[in-house]
Order: sequence, then structure tokens, then C-alpha cells
Amino acid sequence: MREAGSAGPVRMGVVTKGISLRYGARTVLDQVDLHLKKGEVITLLGPNGCGKTSLLKVINGLLPPSQGEVYVDGKHTARMGQMELARLMGYVPQNQRQSFPFTALDIVLTGRMPHLSVLAQPGAADVEKAQRALDMVGALHLASRPYTQISGGERQLVIIARALAQEPSFLLLDEPTSSLDFKNQVSVLKMINRISKEEAVTVIMTLHDPNHAMMFSDEIVLLRRLLPHEELSRGVLSHHQNVIASGKPHEVMTPENIRTAYGIDVEVLEVHGKRILFPL
Ligand SMILES: Nc1ncnc2c1ncn2[C@@H]1O[C@H](COP(=O)(O)OP(=O)(O)O)[C@@H](O)[C@H]1O
Ligand SMILES: [Mg+2]
Repeated sequence: MREAGSAGPVRMGVVTKGISLRYGARTVLDQVDLHLKKGEVITLLGPNGCGKTSLLKVINGLLPPSQGEVYVDGKHTARMGQMELARLMGYVPQNQRQSFPFTALDIVLTGRMPHLSVLAQPGAADVEKAQRALDMVGALHLASRPYTQISGGERQLVIIARALAQEPSFLLLDEPTSSLDFKNQVSVLKMINRISKEEAVTVIMTLHDPNHAMMFSDEIVLLRRLLPHEELSRGVLSHHQNVIASGKPHEVMTPENIRTAYGIDVEVLEVHGKRILFPL
């Protein structure tokens, strides 16, 4: 099998080719070319408004790009149906709200939807898969608790379990730690890393904290916000694109790249053999 329009072998994982995204007259993403490799934990990192959420939505087919194509395991996503994509990609949007007191298990069961035919009810096998997903994230004890009565950290686990109940090959998480305290941030990121390896799920997530990104990612894509005047001359110069660097954390997270992304100076320190960024 070959990728459409290329002579090379299929590249497993997610490939974006020349992705640009405009909201009205505003260009948010410009010529994003990435290969997010299968089996890895990949973090999209960058300042507020640089387009992380938008890129995640383009990757999972929720948002059609203004230009360019996305390939998942060599398949052009524009030619795939919503259900086919949903079976392949579990998506955890930021800040899930839910006002009806469904139990945690009911919420996770809705993750089975892409596997059910139109009018089918979830069966015993679906319930088992939902329970297994809760167990994977260490939240089986919450199964019968109303979602409205559990903590923010617990909700995040349940929502991740819902995406896992889809049995996706790719797990897309938008700021999975944003509403969590210090301890829960680290435990959710460790859990995501463990599941990625144990279940052979490719993780593509967005994070706010560069140090978390360095600690918990196999690869980082560092983005910056396009400035309005750059949008006018888009495509002319390579440095007008918004991917600053992508690759191994130590290659991407250099003081120079961080300055380009965030406009601040940092020093890279080594602690217990791990690198951290220290703002100056
Ligand atoms: N539906 C929309 N309509 C218009 N502008 C949008 C829309 N969604 C996002 N934007 C703008 O696009 C830019 C990138 O947004 P987003 O992808 O949410 O960035 P991030 O997740 O990195 O904070 C922001 O300036 C935001 O205001
Ligand atoms: Mg966002």
C-alpha cells in the first residue's frame, strides 16, 4: 500500500502535509508538515492561541483544514467516514462539562458508540470493555458514582477512560492536566505514558507546561503564534510557518526555540539526569 501522491512506503502514524487553517481572514496554522510516529507520546506545545487545539481538531477530522491533507496510517482522513475515524482516534476535548448525573460507567459506555450499529444498545461485552477502560486509568471504583459528584481529577480519568473504551489506535488529549492539582497532573501524565506503552496507543496531546512536556513526551512539536503581519506574507519564507521545531525533547527545547515560541529567556538545567527549563 502506498500513500496517495507519494512514491515512498506508507508512514505509520499521523502525517500532516501542508496543513493551513484560517478562521475568516485570520491564519492560525500555516503549512504544518509533521510526521507523528506510531507508538509514541507526542506533545503539541506552545503559547496560548498558537493553534494547538485547532491542530488536534484538524488531525481527528473535526475541523477541515483550509489547505493540506492529513494521513493516518497512510489513509487520507478526508476520504474516511466520521465513524471510521472515531474508531481509530479517541478524542478528549478540554474541560468536559456534564450537567446530567450519569454514572461514570454510563459516561465511559458512550465511548462504545462508534462500534455500535445505529439502533443497537450496548451489550455485556461493551460494559466489560467500559469497565476495563475504567480499570486502566485506575478509576474502576468510580463506576457507579454520578459524574456530577466526583472531583475534577476523577472526571478527567473517567473522560480518558471513555476515549479508551473506543479501543482507539490514537488517543488525542487536549490539555489533559489543565484542571488538575500538582499531584494529579503528574499522576495523569504517568498514567497516559503507561497506557501508551501497555496498550500500544499513540498519544497526541497538548500541554501547557514545558517541563511536563519534556518529562512525559517521546517527541515534542513546538509551535508559535503567527503574527498578523506574517499572515499577509504567508508561505513566502519558511520562518513564517508556526512549527518551530519537532523531534526529541532535548533537540526541540533549546533556549533559542523557547525564546521564539514564548518570548522569554530560559536556562536548561539538569536534575537527576533530566532536563528542566528555568525561566530567567
Ligand atoms: N472557531 C473559531 N473562530 C475564530 N477563531 C478561532 C476559533 N477557534 C480558535 N480561534 C482562534 O485561533 C487561534 C488558535 O486557537 P487554538 O487552536 O484554540 O489555540 P491554542 O489551543 O493553542 O490555545 C486563537 O487565536 C483563537 O482565538
Ligand atoms: Mg487549546
